[in-house]
Formats: sequence, structure tokens, C-alpha cells
Amino acid sequence: MPKVTFILRDGSRRAVEFEHGKLEYLGHGLPESFLDVAMNLDVPLEHACGGSCACTTCHLIIREGMQNLSEMEDNEADRLDTAWDLTTASRLGCRAVIKGDVVAEFPLYTRNYVQEGGAIQLGKPDQVAADDTRKAEVGS
Ligand code: FES
Repeated sequence: MPKVTFILRDGSRRAVEFEHGKLEYLGHGLPESFLDVAMNLDVPLEHACGGSCACTTCHLIIREGMQNLSEMEDNEADRLDTAWDLTTASRLGCRAVIKGDVVAEFPLYTRNYVQEGGAIQLGKPDQVAADDTRKAEVGS
């Protein structure tokens, strides 16, 4: 039964355990990845893209047990290149599948464009601009 210790941003530790094959798969990240474990056991791991390897909000720094994780695939490596505070021990929580005991630390910051109200909110700014343009045309 793997023990997963998360070191949260405030420095506190949250240790959880799970049994292989027994987690309910909630559709976020790879089964038995950090994100899957976190969602099942109420650990607040951000996942702005829903665990599809399209952001870096699930970035974790592995402090112990790197050998107990799945090998990194090219898509994870490519995405990690855009992470803030990238280290040689970095992994994406939605891609790294847990095979044994591991300690993972949340970085101090992640780029979360959704929470920051940024560019990932597709459509809204353009829609507002289009509405404003229409109002201006009607008014002129
Ligand atoms: S949740 Fe977006 S890359 Fe992992």
C-alpha cells in the first residue's frame, strides 16, 4: 500500500495511503497518479486543465521516491518545460503514476491562468468585445 506524503505550500505535511486497484477513478489525470490520489483523498492539488497535460498547475517536486514513479513521457517533459520553478525532480501530478512510497512537495507557485483571470478564459473577452462592437454599430 503506497504511502504518499504531500508537503503543502505552508510547509505542513499530508500523508495518505491507497491500495493499488482500489481507488475510484474520477477522470482526472492518469489512474493512480498524484492527481487521482489527491482527488480521492481530498488533497488540494490544482489541476486547471482537468489532468490532461495541458497546463502546469499540478507541478510537484519529488523529494523522495522518484524510483517509485512511472517513467516520464515526452508530453509530460514538454509541458514541464513551461512550469515555474522547474527542477530536475519536477513531475506533473496528473502524469506521474505512483508505484510505491513517495514524498512530493508543492512548489511555492504555479501558473494558473484560470484563477488569475488570464488568457485561458477563451471566448469571454472576445465575446465582450464583439458585443461592444455591435452596440457601437447600432448606436451610430
Ligand atoms: S492538471 Fe494540467 S497538466 Fe496536470
